[in-house]
Amino acid sequence: VTETGRILAVETSCDETAVAVVDSGRRIVANVVASQVALHSATGGIVPEVAARAHLRWMIPVLDEAKRQAGIGDWSEVEAVAVTEGPGLAGSLLVGITMAKTLAWVHDLPLVPVNHLEGHIYAAWLLDPDEADKPAPEFPVVALVVSGGHTFLVEMKDALSYRLLGQTVDDAAGEAFDKVGRLLGLPYPGGPAIMKAAAGAAQRDRVFPRAWLGDSFDFSFSGLKTAARREVARELGTDVSAMSSDAQPLPENAVFELAYGFQESVVDVLSTKTLRAAEEIGARTIVVGGGVAANGVLRGRIEQGADQRGIRVVVPRPGLCTDNAAMIGAAGYFRARAGARAGSDLAAKPSLKLAVREAA
Ligand code: KG4
Ligand code: ZN
Repeated sequence: VTETGRILAVETSCDETAVAVVDSGRRIVANVVASQVALHSATGGIVPEVAARAHLRWMIPVLDEAKRQAGIGDWSEVEAVAVTEGPGLAGSLLVGITMAKTLAWVHDLPLVPVNHLEGHIYAAWLLDPDEADKPAPEFPVVALVVSGGHTFLVEMKDALSYRLLGQTVDDAAGEAFDKVGRLLGLPYPGGPAIMKAAAGAAQRDRVFPRAWLGDSFDFSFSGLKTAARREVARELGTDVSAMSSDAQPLPENAVFELAYGFQESVVDVLSTKTLRAAEEIGARTIVVGGGVAANGVLRGRIEQGADQRGIRVVVPRPGLCTDNAAMIGAAGYFRARAGARAGSDLAAKPSLKLAVREAA
């Protein structure tokens, strides 16, 4: 893959069918995402078989639309095919991997396997088609990844190199948003719905606990579900043990206040630990990625703290924080340049980890 190389990327790890075309690892040429949110909102969550079937249905139309947007007629313009190999849902991953393998095979292109989590980090390198050039994140980088399935902090001294600073010991931050959103009777996924509800809070006096876990960079969010249930019970004047596990019938302003208190707790812990890690390490750039990074309050809190410390913050626009294939194209480019290749035996790796060195 050349320095300005064009990569076609495929992402199907969870519930978005996505294909993108990215030049030089940064410039988005096409970025198509078919979301299954409407499909999964009826069940309040993802049913893996339903997700895989939807990927089968949308894979080809999404590929065609990405090719159309990029004006790809002749495949000789494309230098490699990148695809998410994991982590994610096995059946969902399989659809994208099969597509990418086939494209690489018939067009005689290298196949580049990409870790979805590395994709979320490299989303910070992306530039929109009409966006002015801006410098890439400078190392050392502290990266916070906060998605529906993962929450961790890593140090990057250099490209593609990760030292784990801390991670969640129980739920991911996005998972906490989704579960509390459901309890409050908000639509799926909970993250954007809670952010919207929290903006309506007037009193802002509900305080949810913070799990600081000493001075470690680890996180814990499972206690927030319990705290939310306790707050809801108090609101309804009932006992927690008498409450069903379904959405509770709360007055609108109570939903607003509880959403606010919950979000404050998550944002406070995530931003405080990220800023402290960046300061300790002497990071030049803080990168935030994953679906929860689409949260404007989290973004604002980190930007504010980093500004005071003279650290640059790069958070992709919301559409590039949630799952997309452009981020796989960015990470895939750097992986390809480093020599990463897969054969036609590439398998889905549902519980793939980011290759990290442990903190000393
Ligand atoms: O990265 P992502 O799209 O998929 C995974 O790889 O997990 O993340 C999805 C998660 C969901 O839990 C969703 O509730 C959360 O990101 N999310 C948000 C926001 N937008 C999406 N959480 C908080 N605020 C948001 N605005
Ligand atoms: Zn993701």
